[in-house]
Amino acid sequence: MTIKDVQEEIIRLKKEKDICILAHSYQTHDIIEIADYTGDSYALSKLAAKVNSKTVIMCGVRFMAETVKMLSPDKKVILSNPDAGCPMAEQMDRELIQSVKLKYPEHTVVAYINTTAALKTVCDVCVTSSSAVKIVSAIDNDKILFIPDCNLGAYVASKLPDKNIKLLKGGCPVHAAVTADEAKAAKQAHPGAELLVHPECIPGVVAYADYVGSTSGIMEYAGKSDKKEFIIGTENSIAAHLQYEYPEKKFYLLSKDLVCHNMKATTLVDVLGCIKGDTGEEIKMDDETIALARKCIDKMIEMGG
Ligand code: 13P
Ligand code: SF4
Repeated sequence: MTIKDVQEEIIRLKKEKDICILAHSYQTHDIIEIADYTGDSYALSKLAAKVNSKTVIMCGVRFMAETVKMLSPDKKVILSNPDAGCPMAEQMDRELIQSVKLKYPEHTVVAYINTTAALKTVCDVCVTSSSAVKIVSAIDNDKILFIPDCNLGAYVASKLPDKNIKLLKGGCPVHAAVTADEAKAAKQAHPGAELLVHPECIPGVVAYADYVGSTSGIMEYAGKSDKKEFIIGTENSIAAHLQYEYPEKKFYLLSKDLVCHNMKATTLVDVLGCIKGDTGEEIKMDDETIALARKCIDKMIEMGG
């Protein structure tokens, strides 16, 4: 079968079975093309609450499928590849955060959405990379415990100097591996290009950026900008998608190593297997976890607009 054959079969079956396919922007182009909706984590979590289909396939990582399940508990939610986890989401568990909360009882606990459902049950509000500054700024408490990404947390703190933001040591192993020297070298190699970075990068990299934002934010910025050249400081699939969309512009990679192998675990054939009911994992969650964990996602949606 060719890629086109597999795509056509997926499109035929998803219509026949009324299945909705959500794909995070870090998925490969062949998957993006057959998805009903694509976007960053914030866009996908808002969409998850709205889609009508009884079955949703999430092409992304586990916490994203869990978010869909929490927002639509009556739907059948399938993670396209059960091995696709986000290492950052697994870095802190509920027990650790419960013990940290004892030390900081007056702090509002803000969890990046890249966390497990179990961890969300002990947090106050979720944020995504595109909503973090807006939501933390709107919290009616200047004492914030921001978990698990200390780089996103440091970025939020830099934008909101009036908040007292406590960070723990966590983060995305893919974005945090890029060094400030690499950012400096990329700018020197492409002096006419703007550097667009995800806030999961370390502050030393963010300092060189012309724009800092979520995956969708970066794509939107590159599309609207009058500039012709960009260095992309997030997962490398974004540079590839942008190059398809804007062939007249030029997109360079900040680092060849900015590849999330978990996001890349899903293949087009996995998606076909899920639709046929042969592969994938149905997300199961008990009612209590859903009720407790979704409170902070609902709060995020309420505060994020
Ligand atoms: P976005 O919030 O930009 O979608 O990012 C999700 C993610 O996992 C980034 O590494
Ligand atoms: Fe997790 Fe980083 Fe991959 Fe995003 S890029 S899914 S934060 S490991």
